[in-house]
Amino acid sequence: MTLIFGIETSCDETAAAVVEATADGRLRLRSNVVASQVEMHRKYGGVFPEVAARRHIETIHAVAREALEAAEVRPEALSAIAVTHGPGLAGSLLVGVNFAKGLALAWEKPLIGVNHLEGHIYSLWLSQHADSLRFPALCLLISGGHTELLLVRGHGAYVLLGSTLDDAVGEAFDKVARLLGLGYPGGPAIERAAREGDPRAYAFARADLGAERPYAFSFSGIKTAVMRAVQPQPTHGRRVRGEEALKADNLRPDVNIADVAASFQAAAIEMLIEPTLRAAQAHPVSAIWLAGGVSANAYLRAQLAARTDLPVYAPPLALCTDNAAMIAAAGYFRYSAGQRDSLSLDALPMLALA
Ligand code: KG4
Ligand code: ZN
Repeated sequence: MTLIFGIETSCDETAAAVVEATADGRLRLRSNVVASQVEMHRKYGGVFPEVAARRHIETIHAVAREALEAAEVRPEALSAIAVTHGPGLAGSLLVGVNFAKGLALAWEKPLIGVNHLEGHIYSLWLSQHADSLRFPALCLLISGGHTELLLVRGHGAYVLLGSTLDDAVGEAFDKVARLLGLGYPGGPAIERAAREGDPRAYAFARADLGAERPYAFSFSGIKTAVMRAVQPQPTHGRRVRGEEALKADNLRPDVNIADVAASFQAAAIEMLIEPTLRAAQAHPVSAIWLAGGVSANAYLRAQLAARTDLPVYAPPLALCTDNAAMIAAAGYFRYSAGQRDSLSLDALPMLALA
């Protein structure tokens, strides 16, 4: 039996988890602790990097201890320590990386650096579909910082087909939610509000990047379109801009928030689905995998499944957003492949997957 201790601090969640791998390579979650900073960041309407790093320092020790206790695992029994070393906020990453180094040194365990995005993909190995996952697969990786279409050829073997030219899709959900006064994080709030709304109420223009960039995405246009639709017409030639424009107290009085949320969600999801279906047709893949925070969206899951004959696999809801179980899962495959990192492992804020 292999036991991997995972640590994740790349953004605003301080997380630790223990994943067990049986001899036949099946993964089982032994514990999964996530201390969310959402409440704290809510007052800023987003993540404040210095505040996030400081909070990780305050919380990581207790979170790690709780993960071990909940798993009923003693440090001696662990096979390796896996930690997110990028991409993410530099200060936040450093807290996790340094903590993991300390543990690896003190407990004399191998250290394994994991790419956060790869972690999101490996949350699928902790789902009920784990036994059905086959290569090559097409992965739509959608989070607050990334929107990428990847061809997954094997463990750790990725080809980047396309990505966003501007905002990540999760970022667009967060910004529109803020504009509508729905709070942070925006994705779940928009999804909830959208259930009561009419997705055809507003015709937000969808970015069509055409034949030249069949697998690229763009979300800055729709964000601006929503802003135009819900904010008062400029008076005296002045239109509010920047931070001020993102405030909900600037809404036009006749705006129906549920309708805007539903129309925005429908358009944004459509813009994810089109390139994904194009890529699925152009490449022989076994399935479409969803990963990252936005893959929690039920409307996306249903729409995509309805429009393809390929199986669509998504992580368990609790493992869509940032967690350390996915880092331990990815760490297990890297550990099995022989990866061992030294104590000079770097935090790499811009680390790419492919
Ligand atoms: O993967 P994640 O936890 O963090 C990053 O690595 O960025 O993703 C967070 C993003 C946020 O933008 C959040 O609004 C979005 O995922 N999100 C959702 C939903 N749940 C979370 N977006 C749409 N629908 C959801 N249900
Ligand atoms: Zn993430």
